[in-house]
Amino acid sequence: PSQECSNEVKTSIRKMRLFPNTNASPRRHKPSNSRHKMFVKTPTVPGELPKPSSETYIDCWDGDHVRMPCSPSNIYPDEHFKSKTCKRWSLIESSLTAGMISSYDIEEAILHYNSRYKGKWNFAILHQTINEEMTQTERNELFNHVLPFMAIPLLRKQQGYSLTFSQQQVASLLANAFFCTFPRRNATGQGTEFASYPSINFNGLFCQVGKRVRRENSMIHKLKCIFHYFKKISLSMPCGCVTFKRKVVSGLSAKVWSDSTRCLTDCHFTSEKLIEDFHGAVQADFANCMIGGGVLRMGCVQEEIQFLTHPELLISRLFTQQLDDNEVLIMKGAEKYSNYKGYGDSFEFDGDHTDITAFDDIGRRYRHIIGMDASYYSNTLTQYQMNHVIRELNKAYSGFYSNKDSPIDIATGNWGCGAFNGNHYFKGVLQLMVAAECDRQLHYSVFGDHNVEQKLTSFYQFCKSHNVTVGTLWKQIAEYQNQTDSRTKKENPHSVLSFIMRNLNT
Ligand code: AR6
Repeated sequence: PSQECSNEVKTSIRKMRLFPNTNASPRRHKPSNSRHKMFVKTPTVPGELPKPSSETYIDCWDGDHVRMPCSPSNIYPDEHFKSKTCKRWSLIESSLTAGMISSYDIEEAILHYNSRYKGKWNFAILHQTINEEMTQTERNELFNHVLPFMAIPLLRKQQGYSLTFSQQQVASLLANAFFCTFPRRNATGQGTEFASYPSINFNGLFCQVGKRVRRENSMIHKLKCIFHYFKKISLSMPCGCVTFKRKVVSGLSAKVWSDSTRCLTDCHFTSEKLIEDFHGAVQADFANCMIGGGVLRMGCVQEEIQFLTHPELLISRLFTQQLDDNEVLIMKGAEKYSNYKGYGDSFEFDGDHTDITAFDDIGRRYRHIIGMDASYYSNTLTQYQMNHVIRELNKAYSGFYSNKDSPIDIATGNWGCGAFNGNHYFKGVLQLMVAAECDRQLHYSVFGDHNVEQKLTSFYQFCKSHNVTVGTLWKQIAEYQNQTDSRTKKENPHSVLSFIMRNLNT
């Protein structure tokens, strides 16, 4: 990889710290503490499907666990006799085993066990994708092969700080999400049981809300990614594992930043690569506090695209409660199934992706993704207020901090600077500070913007040549906030860089 990068490195990383590109030899993996729930038996054997950690289903129908579709406590009003209830799993089983030959059968099946949503949910995008966008051969394949394969029922659930599943278990859970079987996950308003969790049932993918025709095409392509994933695993079930780790970092105060004497770590800015192009580095997910953001609705920017091209990430939405300011979600081992082109409304599925990323000792691909949510600014001036600066520094610290020596490099970029309205240059300064504090090297993709690349590179080189510390940058930011009027901040987005360089040069 170092050779691959060398001719574009304007600022350099002397020795890259990347994940190995060969497979690790399997060994018994002992979770380091009681905060890791493994759903698979270890050691896993390369090339063999991991075995579930328990042979029997243990039902936990309570507020601390994911409520599973197959739970005996999952009861639902009887469609015909409203005063009566019935076991919802029987409804699910009978609907999904009845056989489907058209997109209308999928709609009917899903509404059979979600009868409260009859007349409320709309499946227009599902019908359009299947009936207008797919060829007859693709439709035959979907109804004769992929959908029957997807109706795998039943997996046990748990909730904890780290959860490890086999890719097969994730597939089963995602098949349930596609068929909208997860109980109590449809109503998401305030006061509902899962109001602080992302949605997981896929009904939001099957229709557009409102008349935003521009979005229609990207939504069709979202479904194409999903069908491609299921098709691919139906032909050959992947044998690896995936871990989701909720990481909490406490005890950070402003003093950490103001008193820090650390100098910047190696970093290179590039307008030629995207985050996902930095193989072997940990990748940032520009997340929503509800992980996955609008992926199951109409959203289609960095996080959503990452989740669509790596659909195993979607299952994080089943159990990850809204992230707090000092928390991130680390997702390890997800496979990339699809390529894409375009972005936002122009997003399109662009064919199969063969993932050649190596596996670690428990069968996870060496692909670590950090879901970290920036703040949204309706007024862009807010971001310079010191309490907001602290919030962003601490959030990024939760993502970048590692207790390992020589931690793996991070690929990041315009975090919080698209949908969330942050300033590209300012977020660059903040991420450089956090990387320095955490001894992380950064591969910084500016998403094709030469201007941002050039300005951040000069700023970075200035800081390196002047041995500027994190504490100094902190003080400069505080001065910038105090001394610079709102007009300059608004009209000259890179004024924060020139302000700091001018001040430190005198
Ligand atoms: N590689 C490098 N840079 C990228 C890439 C990529 N693949 N994709 C986008 N960018 P955004 P946010 C750049 O808007 O502002 C989602 O709905 C590009 O310059 O996705 O943190 C989440 O769920 C883009 O403008 O992140 C949240 O709700 C910038 O990164 C919300 O958006 C920011 O990407 C987060 O918004």
